Amino acid sequence: MILLVGGEKGGSGKSCLAQNLAVYFAQHQNSSVLMVDCDPQRTTSDWIQARNNDESLSQINCIQLYGKIRNDLLSLERNYDYLIIDCGGQDNLALRASMSVADQVIIPLRPKRRDIKTVPHMEDILSTCKMVNPKMNASFVMTQCPSLPNQAGRILEAKEVCNSYGINVLDAITYSRNIYDDSEEDGKSVLELDPKGKASLEIIAIAQELLAMKPDNRYEFS
Ligand SMILES: Nc1ncnc2c1ncn2[C@@H]1O[C@H](COP(=O)(O)OP(=O)(O)OP(=O)(O)O)[C@@H](O)[C@H]1O
Ligand SMILES: [Mg+2]
Repeated sequence: MILLVGGEKGGSGKSCLAQNLAVYFAQHQNSSVLMVDCDPQRTTSDWIQARNNDESLSQINCIQLYGKIRNDLLSLERNYDYLIIDCGGQDNLALRASMSVADQVIIPLRPKRRDIKTVPHMEDILSTCKMVNPKMNASFVMTQCPSLPNQAGRILEAKEVCNSYGINVLDAITYSRNIYDDSEEDGKSVLELDPKGKASLEIIAIAQELLAMKPDNRYEFS
């Protein structure tokens, strides 16, 4: 599976989600995982370096790729069960090239106006890429959600805006929790820092929702 964690909003939690999903697939699915870091900030590469310095953690491979990476991804796909691509926060060639081959595209968004404002442009990019990659499934996921009960309406409203553009929104969300930030420091995932904690359950729910999705066959015969 080629899984792209993308979007053009900075700080929405793309790298964090990509890393936690990589650990989930490596551990729970017992699969081979390659992380592909397309972000010049190298957030994921730095995390992998910290991780692979700690012998108690399972090793995950990572490479950096930029630009027209479609063919690289297709050939790497043959050697790994999962390619997980962290594309950074911009609309660039690597993002579009990844979308042209991805099975799953997941776009983290915080339930905040400035994040939601990126939805129309993302829909534009997704529908262009869907022409060359019709089986791609694309979903938004709400991240860093406020946990106060009186803020629940904000999360629902944000989901409705995404739905109104005809794009799937995952039921699973992440709440704003310090453990996401704390785990990154040492190259860990929340699954390793507190395996039974609430953040772990959030990551597992996101991963399982992605795995349950079938390829989008709506365009197969058109
Ligand atoms: N659910 C969450 N709760 C609390 N903090 C979070 C959550 N998800 C991510 N973060 C934190 O938010 C910060 C930004 O996350 P991250 O680096 O993953 O964003 P990004 O979308 O990759 O940013 P960029 O666009 O710069 O690549 C990090 O410190 C991360 O730990
Ligand atoms: Mg990032």
